[in-house]
Amino acid sequence: MNLFPLVSLAILLCLGSSFAAEEAKGNKTDNCNKENCPWHLWNHYEAKGCKPIYKDGECCPVAFNCTAFDDNNGEDGCQFKGQFYKQGEVINTTNPCHKCRCAAKGITSCTISECFTEANLPNCIPLFVHSECCPMNQYCLPLGKKSLEEVADATVCKYEGKTYVEDQIIELKDHPCLTCICKKGFNGPDSPSCKKVECSFPGNNLKMKRGCVPVYMNSRCCSIDWICPPADDDVEEKAIEGGCRFGERHFPLGASLDLRDPCTICNCTTPTDFTCIRTQCSGPPNGDFVNCRPIPSRQAQCCHDFHCIPPGSIPPGVPFPDGQGPPRPNQSQQPSQ
Ligand SMILES: *[C@@H]1O[C@H](CO)[C@@H](O)[C@H](O)[C@H]1NC(C)=O
Ligand SMILES: *[C@@H]1O[C@H](CO)[C@@H](O)[C@H](O)[C@H]1NC(C)=O
Ligand SMILES: *[C@@H]1O[C@H](CO)[C@@H](O)[C@H](O)[C@H]1NC(C)=O
Ligand SMILES: *[C@@H]1O[C@H](CO)[C@@H](O)[C@H](O)[C@H]1NC(C)=O
Ligand SMILES: *[C@@H]1O[C@H](CO)[C@@H](O)[C@H](O)[C@H]1NC(C)=O
Repeated sequence: MNLFPLVSLAILLCLGSSFAAEEAKGNKTDNCNKENCPWHLWNHYEAKGCKPIYKDGECCPVAFNCTAFDDNNGEDGCQFKGQFYKQGEVINTTNPCHKCRCAAKGITSCTISECFTEANLPNCIPLFVHSECCPMNQYCLPLGKKSLEEVADATVCKYEGKTYVEDQIIELKDHPCLTCICKKGFNGPDSPSCKKVECSFPGNNLKMKRGCVPVYMNSRCCSIDWICPPADDDVEEKAIEGGCRFGERHFPLGASLDLRDPCTICNCTTPTDFTCIRTQCSGPPNGDFVNCRPIPSRQAQCCHDFHCIPPGSIPPGVPFPDGQGPPRPNQSQQPSQ
């Protein structure tokens, strides 16, 4: 019997519910649908148990009240979603792939389940239920069929031009914080078979207590990195009302952190933490690194524009019109750390 690691719910869709749902439900009016607020940039506020602050006339929260988290700062335990956990206690998460515990010094330590299963045929699709991390079953294409489109009677969901079998994961492009499973009657993000993703922020408490802020990407639900203030920053600054705090320093609403990383922007947009967003560059049109080259720029710039020539218009090895030599093949742009 061959054992192969298989995709799990966590790997596919980052990590398990979010307060966006509670805030958004029953609060849809003509000019305000809270679901459209950028909740995926605020997942750490939920983990810290902060409360959204609304302002008259504005649909989305303008700031968060984290005094409950800050007031518990001295204790050597962990906080998650407003609950306090002592060292050694199991932390409740709704994510079936995560087993989290409050370890020493307030570090939340999580183990992420790995799924193993008997050798899978390449033509099989893993099938999930929300309460389990690993696939419960699989659907294998009938012999001779290459794609689901060829097996009309097996498909239960159709969404954004793709077809799915029952219990298959459906990834919604514009909803990174939703885990959807195909069920009869599935009709997009409002379907009952969609659940909010919960981000567990492994290691969160120590970092959050230190004043670190998570780095998000617009296309993902959970944070991908942390930005931390200098460990021995020896300043005494007064808090600025309605502003952001970064370690011992305080900044007014609208300020940015100077990170010297053109791909990561941290702005004080919804205090009390900075909102940090990392951009991932899309590369040249159609991923064509042979006929397109980045246009050099003198300024620090995250993503480059590309100069493309019509395919075949210059033989291989001949410099580009601007005289800077042919492109290197397989050159790719990664966001810098
Ligand atoms: C709707 O939003 C307001 C804040 O704007 C909040 O106080 C209220 O509890 C929300 N209602 C529901 C049903 O969630
Ligand atoms: C934040 O919440 C606490 C109660 O948890 C309250 O006493 C305080 O006034 C709130 N602060 C702001 C700025 O809303
Ligand atoms: C954790 O979740 C379980 C089941 O939902 C519940 O019975 C238990 O009381 C929760 N523990 C804490 C500390 O919230
Ligand atoms: C962040 O702030 C800078 C400078 O104030 C501004 O140019 C930029 O558009 C802001 N970015 C976001 C995502 O708010
Ligand atoms: C470019 O990358 C692909 C796979 O990523 C590889 O198969 C190919 O050999 C590479 N070409 C060159 C010229 O390195």
